[in-house]
Amino acid sequence: MNYKLDKILRSEEETYNFGLEYSKNLQSGDILGLIGDLAVGKTTFVKGLLKGLNYNYEVNSPTFTLINEYVADLQVYHIDFYREDNVLRWKNIGLQEMINRNGVTIIEWADLLPQLVPLNCKYIYFEHYNDQYRRVYIK
Ligand SMILES: Nc1ncnc2c1ncn2[C@@H]1O[C@H](COP(=O)(O)OP(=O)(O)OP(=O)(O)O)[C@@H](O)[C@H]1O
Ligand SMILES: [Mg+2]
Repeated sequence: MNYKLDKILRSEEETYNFGLEYSKNLQSGDILGLIGDLAVGKTTFVKGLLKGLNYNYEVNSPTFTLINEYVADLQVYHIDFYREDNVLRWKNIGLQEMINRNGVTIIEWADLLPQLVPLNCKYIYFEHYNDQYRRVYIK
């Protein structure tokens, strides 16, 4: 398979830096779907991405809050599908409106509720390679 990107991330820092680099390609309206197992580095990637957008404060996982919103160089909506599988709840929270607003929407565990993810979503896949190493690829 010829992937657009396929690399090994050898530490948390490398994953963070990958997010930082990736942020340079972002435009308002982009939707990212982050796919990969628990602790594979999805949130670490988002932390680096926000740093790259000059957000200099703490970034936390939206696992429990479901949605975190950041005012950075671009508006960023950071979403996690992991703990809420009720599609109606997401509709009530206003997920669709959020996606339609100006800004970047990033969805961890986007594969869990594919019916909520717009067609123009760009997927980034993370895999455990060993204890410290992760593989990231974009199809
Ligand atoms: N190469 C690596 N890249 C990223 N994280 C790593 C790496 N090696 C070890 N880690 C550790 O793995 C964990 C990754 O956590 P993170 O919250 O980013 O994962 P996640 O994919 O968002 O998990 P979840 O599905 O629970 O939201 C951290 O504890 C980090 O220190
Ligand atoms: Mg996470």
